[in-house]
Amino acid sequence: MKFFVDTAIIEDIVELNDYGLLDGVTTNPSLIAKSGRDFKEVIAEICGVVSGPVSAEVASMDFDTMMAEADCLSKIASNVVIKLPLTLDGLKACRTLTDKGIKTNVTLCFAANQALLAAKAGATYISPFVGRLDDLNLDGMDLIREIRTIYDNYDFKTEILAASIRSANHVKEAALAGADVATIPPSVIKSLANHALTDKGLDQFSKDWAATGQSIL
Ligand code: E4P
Repeated sequence: MKFFVDTAIIEDIVELNDYGLLDGVTTNPSLIAKSGRDFKEVIAEICGVVSGPVSAEVASMDFDTMMAEADCLSKIASNVVIKLPLTLDGLKACRTLTDKGIKTNVTLCFAANQALLAAKAGATYISPFVGRLDDLNLDGMDLIREIRTIYDNYDFKTEILAASIRSANHVKEAALAGADVATIPPSVIKSLANHALTDKGLDQFSKDWAATGQSIL
C-alpha cells in the first residue's frame, strides 16, 4: 500500500520524505487554510520536494470554472493531480481531464455507488473518507471493502485512496481491506513505528550493552 501524507505543512512533508516513507501528498482547502500559505505557491513547493503525485483541489462547483482551475493547477508541475468533488460536474471534469491525460483524484466519496461513478469517469484515484463515516457511527472501512470488491469485479483501474485516516488502526485496516493508497496525517504516519515492547526491548538492550563496556566504533 502506498503512503500519501495528508498535509500542506512543508516541514512535515520534508521530514517524512527524508525518512523515505512518502509516495505522494494530498491537500484540501481546509489544509491549505491551516497552512496559512498561498495555495499555488505551497503546491509548487511540495512538488519540488516530492516526485510522486501531489493532489491539489479545485475550489469551484461548476464544470467550466473547475476546468479553468484544473488547467491553472496542472501547469504548476507535472506531478500535480487534480482533486475534484464527487458531484456530477466534478465527474464530468474528471472524464474530460482523464481524456486529456491529466491525473485526477475524486474526493468526498461516502458511498460505493459514488465510487462506481468515479471509476466510470476514469478517475486515477477515488478518495473514500473513512474517519468521517466513523464519526457518524458507521464503519468507514466497510466502504473500502465494498469499493475493492466492485473495482475487482470489473477490473477498474481507479486506485482506492483511503482518506480521512485518523489512527494507526485505520492504516492497518485499510491495508487489510486492499486499499491501494492511504493518505495519512503526519503524526499518524510517525506513530506507526511505535510499540511499547520495542521501547522496553531497546531499554533492556541499552542497559545490557552498557554493562559489557564494549564499543562498536
Ligand atoms: C483527503 O484527501 C482529505 O484531505 C482528508 O483525508 C480529510 O480528512 P479529515 O476527515 O480528517 O479532514
